[in-house]
Amino acid sequence: MNDKQLVALEAAKYVKDGMLVGLGTGSTANYFIDELARLARDEGLKITTVASSTISAQRAQSLHLPIVALEHIREIDLYVDGADEITPDKTLLKGRGSDLVKEKLLAKAAKEFITVADSSKLVSHIGQNFVIPIEVIPFAWQLAKKSLEDLGAEGGLRPNAAGDGFWITSHGSYVLDMKFDKSLDASTLNALINNTPGVLEHGIFYKLADRILIADNGIVSEYQASGQ
Ligand code: 5RP
Repeated sequence: MNDKQLVALEAAKYVKDGMLVGLGTGSTANYFIDELARLARDEGLKITTVASSTISAQRAQSLHLPIVALEHIREIDLYVDGADEITPDKTLLKGRGSDLVKEKLLAKAAKEFITVADSSKLVSHIGQNFVIPIEVIPFAWQLAKKSLEDLGAEGGLRPNAAGDGFWITSHGSYVLDMKFDKSLDASTLNALINNTPGVLEHGIFYKLADRILIADNGIVSEYQASGQ
């Protein structure tokens, strides 16, 4: 069993009968979805799910997990999802797959948000290994990009898979992949990007993770923020 699967299985232990569970997106979240389906099938676990992306909804449906639409919920019991980066103050960078709008809605709506990752995701500062994905309203992309450049960021529209156009999210938005000066901390970056007109959402998940489980060479432990 690899570390992503191991940590996903650990997170599944937090799922109890009757819960409304948010499903993340990505390879680690997929292991969690698969484990929920196994528990429902083999051990009679009774849950309802809500998905953070079409791809996760499809996976849940194909595994016969009961699923409700996002617009029908006000809060959820638990949300389990992966991350691209995790900093010592428990800030996450997410959205490599560009489903960050629903992901952040579910992270905020959850009574508990558990992040699951292998140790390769631990970094010293946000943006260390990845650009920051910023979802923008299409007609505002140039104005939003200019505002972000005025903050010192560099980058541009995310290309589509074929490289002959731009990436369009499931809500019809564009994604700006931007790199910021590494001296800007997560709290400052979060506030600056939130204040940029035309920005719909971005991949910095600041103070949203309640619990972070990290698998490192076959051992899962709870990540403690530095200074705690
Ligand atoms: C998608 C995400 C994923 O959770 C993140 O990219 C981690 O993916 P993986 O579990 O495949 O490493 O934020 O928007």
